[in-house]
Amino acid sequence: MSISKTGLGFMAFGAATLAALAAASAAQAAGPAGDAARGKTVFARCAACHDLNTGAIRMGPSLKGVVGRKAGTFANFSYSAGMKGKGVTWGPDTLDQFLTAPMKYVPGTRMAFPGLSNAQDRADVIAYLKVAAK
Ligand code: HEC
Repeated sequence: MSISKTGLGFMAFGAATLAALAAASAAQAAGPAGDAARGKTVFARCAACHDLNTGAIRMGPSLKGVVGRKAGTFANFSYSAGMKGKGVTWGPDTLDQFLTAPMKYVPGTRMAFPGLSNAQDRADVIAYLKVAAK
């Protein structure tokens, strides 16, 4: 009797866990929705190296118009060979992958930044770049 109760409990727990895992991976595939206002505070971590909309070059290239821009093409910035040859266009997807692990996505990148491990931070900063980096 007590064995079958435990067994049922375990099965119920297992089903709930599977449902939660499925929901989590579905959310991850779509990515969390970005909040541009929060993204502004995340961008504080980028601002020392990146101008947003004047076109100035700092440690890194200006991010003016970065969403929709081809990687490694901002005028007069000396990019790494890896970035110049990457051949992607920056959009929500490519930015998310780059910002997750810059050195993995662009081997040899000169961007000395470990990445944003939090998916919400990435979605937020990308939402901010969309509206503010113009
Ligand atoms: C320590 C300075 C530094 C920090 C901090 C930094 N970056 Fe960068 N970033 C760079 C440099 C340098 C490059 C050029 C990389 C290369 O040539 O490989 C770059 C390149 C980029 C590019 C590609 C631009 C292009 O023209 O193709 C994007 C997008 C970018 N950074 C976004 C960010 C974001 C968003 C953050 C904050 C979450 C950030 N960076 C933080 C220095 C930095």
